[in-house]
Amino acid sequence: MIRKAVIPAAGFGTRFLPLTKAQPKEMLPIVDTPTIQMVVEEAVDSGITDILMVIGKSKRAIEEHFDRNFELEQELEQKGKEDLLRQIRHISGMANIHFVWQKELNGLGDAVSYARSHVGNEPFALLLGDTILESYSDEPVTRQLINVFNQHGGSVVALEEVPQEKVSRYGIMDGEDVGDGVYRVRDFVEKPDPAVAPSNLAFAGRYVFSPDIFDFLIQTGRGKNNEIQLTDAMRTMAQSRPMFGCRFSGKRHDVGNKFDFVKTNIHYALKHPEMKDPLISYLKELVKTL
Ligand code: G1P
Repeated sequence: MIRKAVIPAAGFGTRFLPLTKAQPKEMLPIVDTPTIQMVVEEAVDSGITDILMVIGKSKRAIEEHFDRNFELEQELEQKGKEDLLRQIRHISGMANIHFVWQKELNGLGDAVSYARSHVGNEPFALLLGDTILESYSDEPVTRQLINVFNQHGGSVVALEEVPQEKVSRYGIMDGEDVGDGVYRVRDFVEKPDPAVAPSNLAFAGRYVFSPDIFDFLIQTGRGKNNEIQLTDAMRTMAQSRPMFGCRFSGKRHDVGNKFDFVKTNIHYALKHPEMKDPLISYLKELVKTL
């Protein structure tokens, strides 16, 4: 059973400056909900009960968001705002949430290695804090990965097909299709030049690892962008362990870049019962003025 998850949320969010000067990009709202809350909900709905967040400077808002706020609860109670009260309590009661501070920003691989003592000798899920994965099936994407892990007995990465010109933004897998959206991995490469990319199957911000990933992370030196790359550790791991890719049923919303952030907000606003119709009318009117 996989009950632990790690959520790295320590990056500077330079693509979102000046907004991220004093607040974390993981708190960017999707209509009315911070991105990282949606990520935590995905983990919890996948059976995770224990979450470690790897955070850095200017991330206090994340801690406070998952803590209780008694004054606010009292205020909502007195005003009879039961629905909001329930929503607010739900956030702090969802899971056991722990924090560890990444001392220097040395890349995703380095951030994940901070989870070693917390995770111990258990398999765990890794969910990137700036990516929302909307599932098209009954099961959240992390759960889909856990199923592949249980069935095939090896670490798993979520894959999404991307246009060839975008492969240089992501980790890319080279592997063999073994059916049902599952690939047996031959190799990985971090942000390749489109001309030499082995495929257009890109990592989508969700992973399930056996704990020996930490042994490979220790051996990993600096790679692309002079950072310790998780992909490099996965690459070494794939040489001696069976590893799998899972083309999940769903869609990635990469909230870490501005255009996708705006698109994601429109996408979820259109699913919001009170906002859908007024937003459609507004957008129609707006387009007429262009
Ligand atoms: C990281 C990973 C990359 C992955 C991406 C997914 O890159 O290094 O392999 O495809 O997340 O969102 P970053 O977006 O942090 O540059």
